[in-house]
Amino acid sequence: MRPRRFAALGPLTGRIRVPGDKSISHRSIMLGALAVGETTVTGLLEGEDVLSTAAAMRAMGATIERDAGGTWRVQGVGVGGLLQPQAALDMGNSGTSTRLLMGLVASHPITATFIGDASLSKRPMGRVIDPLSQIGASFTAAPGGRLPLTLQGVQPAIPISYRLPVASAQVKSAVLLAGLNTAGITTVIEPVPTRDHSERMLRGFGAQLDVDVEADGTRIIRLTGEAELKPQSIEVPGDPSSAAFFAVAALIVPGSDLVIENVGLNPTRAALFDVLRLMGGSIEELDRRDVGGEPVADLRVRASVLTGIEVDPAVVPSMVDEFPILFVAAALAQGRTVTRGLEELRVKESDRIAVMRVALEQAGARVTETEDGLIIDGTGGEPLRGANNASVATHLDHRIAMSMAVAGLASHGGIEVDDTRPIATSFPVFESLLATATGTAA
Ligand code: S3P
Repeated sequence: MRPRRFAALGPLTGRIRVPGDKSISHRSIMLGALAVGETTVTGLLEGEDVLSTAAAMRAMGATIERDAGGTWRVQGVGVGGLLQPQAALDMGNSGTSTRLLMGLVASHPITATFIGDASLSKRPMGRVIDPLSQIGASFTAAPGGRLPLTLQGVQPAIPISYRLPVASAQVKSAVLLAGLNTAGITTVIEPVPTRDHSERMLRGFGAQLDVDVEADGTRIIRLTGEAELKPQSIEVPGDPSSAAFFAVAALIVPGSDLVIENVGLNPTRAALFDVLRLMGGSIEELDRRDVGGEPVADLRVRASVLTGIEVDPAVVPSMVDEFPILFVAAALAQGRTVTRGLEELRVKESDRIAVMRVALEQAGARVTETEDGLIIDGTGGEPLRGANNASVATHLDHRIAMSMAVAGLASHGGIEVDDTRPIATSFPVFESLLATATGTAA
């Protein structure tokens, strides 16, 4: 454990640049490893989760190296070319690595065992075991469909048509990736749209992927299998889910005026910034442009008086990872914020509804937990009391650690986070950027 106390440091000012998008980084390594030839990736997130993906793809035959200039070079094995890994694939804390790689392995004639840390080993894998069993793969898993899990892939695999029972980009992506090495058309029916990075990147690598949108918004995604992927040169935009912590910090720390550069604003990801604006947050988009086929802008964020709102459950998938930090903004806002439809948060790296309720209460916030969300009565801009007696428990969840660090910046007594190590899974430079933005760098 590496505990650290976060206390008021003064306003956040100047310009910072957040690291590459985690979702896009995972996918660029995976698809690069399946193309024939060399894919280059700049701006890759060098967090532990992405490194777990890279290690697994190496174990299955790809060559993946970082050159001295920070560009990643991936020599792929071709679709269908993954090799039998010689040891268990250690997924660390990463649900995305696990579920997407299960999809890839499922349509190859190889057997792989997936292991992970205590947090990942509690998370449900049945949601990918179900569709991947339909394509013909077989599984032995720990009780409840959890890690450790052994997957025996199948070749030839059966092309399926699968309607997503949960709004999950990971499940969608697992089925589509399995479809790459499956003859025929694999179809995913997505009643509620989720992040579409897999679709964008599969097309970018030259796969035949068609999307029809029905009148009620349901998306029908069809991938033609036995695809031949062509190597690409990819520039990864900054991660909006990482920018989120600095955006909220700048809104709630008086006197802040911060520019966060190069933030990915794919509409399937960026709803937090819209919700914060509805609460009265001053977030301006500067220099909107395209990076690697994704919309990007610099965000200028100024300290603002926030007002509580009812968050429309329809936006949940496009900010599913941002609720812990939204709860912090709500705890400092004027009046009541109500969130609903967050049941998926209970099966993330931790139960983010329960864990944030406990942590925020410890810091002096007024919070009520419901089955599918939190109701928060904010301080109206007054700093939180702080958690003076005990450290808050983060349960191996990076986003809880960073959210409560930000809450500490807007507290009288400071907040001790029990373990900052998980931050390195998604945002290894979080603490150094915080020092830069607050002018406290050594
Ligand atoms: C991700 C999808 C989301 C998100 C996770 C990354 C992805 O999970 O929470 O951090 O890269 O596909 P679900 O698809 O399970 O909601």
